[in-house]
Amino acid sequence: MTNTPYIIVTGAGGSIGQAITRTLAHAGHNVIMACRNVAKDTPLCDKINNECSGTVTIMQLDLASFDSIRRFADNIQERGYTIKALINNAGVMNKEYRTTREGYEMTIGVNFLGTYLLTELLLPGIIDGGNITFTTSLTRYIGKVDEQFFNLTADNYGRFKAYSRSKLATTLYTAHLAHKLSARNIHVNAADPGVVDTGMIRMDAWFDPLADKLFRPLISTPQQGATSALSATEASCSGEIFEKTRHHTIPKRLRKHRYTQWLIAEAERLTTRRG
Ligand SMILES: NC(=O)c1ccc[n+]([C@@H]2O[C@H](COP(=O)([O-])OP(=O)(O)OC[C@H]3O[C@@H](n4cnc5c(N)ncnc54)[C@H](OP(=O)(O)O)[C@@H]3O)[C@@H](O)[C@H]2O)c1
Repeated sequence: MTNTPYIIVTGAGGSIGQAITRTLAHAGHNVIMACRNVAKDTPLCDKINNECSGTVTIMQLDLASFDSIRRFADNIQERGYTIKALINNAGVMNKEYRTTREGYEMTIGVNFLGTYLLTELLLPGIIDGGNITFTTSLTRYIGKVDEQFFNLTADNYGRFKAYSRSKLATTLYTAHLAHKLSARNIHVNAADPGVVDTGMIRMDAWFDPLADKLFRPLISTPQQGATSALSATEASCSGEIFEKTRHHTIPKRLRKHRYTQWLIAEAERLTTRRG
């Protein structure tokens, strides 16, 4: 069993994550559900295992804690698991300013910094020819990455500001890694699920009930939203953005973004264990 390659799905208990996990398990893949709250998501893991012959395992991962991320990666290594695909699906968009265990703004911390650390730690265990998928969003178009990227505070926080920055940074990292891993033939792509009927699009505002009635029926279901990540995870191309089954190369202005090298160097510096 330990030599059978696994697909790791972060945020596997969330709306899109469930759809990704169930589809992969039904297709016969061995899946690791990487979940922040194992107690909450274990019934789902059991249910999917009962439904199909796929082997689904659940493991704890809190992307808002470097210790948790390192424990998860150590655990994978100690169990001797090899990885054929990593699907970085977990993400947050918080109304209020919050911070990670290490004190970074939560959206940047989980969507970009934690996801960066997890990916870097798992890289040696990903088989040549494997796949890494990151989750982006249309908000990358309004995001900004510059030397103020990690400096969001309670005073200058806005949920779209933080979220769009995190998704732009994730897309820059996707392009960077796609180039870096081309020699190992590891396919690195971004998946954009579109606008999907999940808890994430709730605005905690007076118009939510109205939007639930008028807007939600028109947008993608979680299963439809999962198509982008599922397509990217089967891809034999790299450096592309998948929107459902269609894909296009990450635009040049992002591939050549002037802050990518700075962003990666900072991410490495901030996540390097000291002492
Ligand atoms: N919904 C949309 O319209 C839309 C559009 C574009 C992109 N996306 C992206 O799609 C992905 C999935 O989102 P969704 O809509 O399915 O939202 P969701 O239902 O809220 O799922 C988010 C998942 O991320 C997990 N997560 C949050 N913080 C975490 C942490 N610190 N450590 C580990 N896992 C954590 C959540 O775990 P818990 O269940 O424990 O909270 C949950 O499983 C996200 O990356 C999101 O940004 C969504």
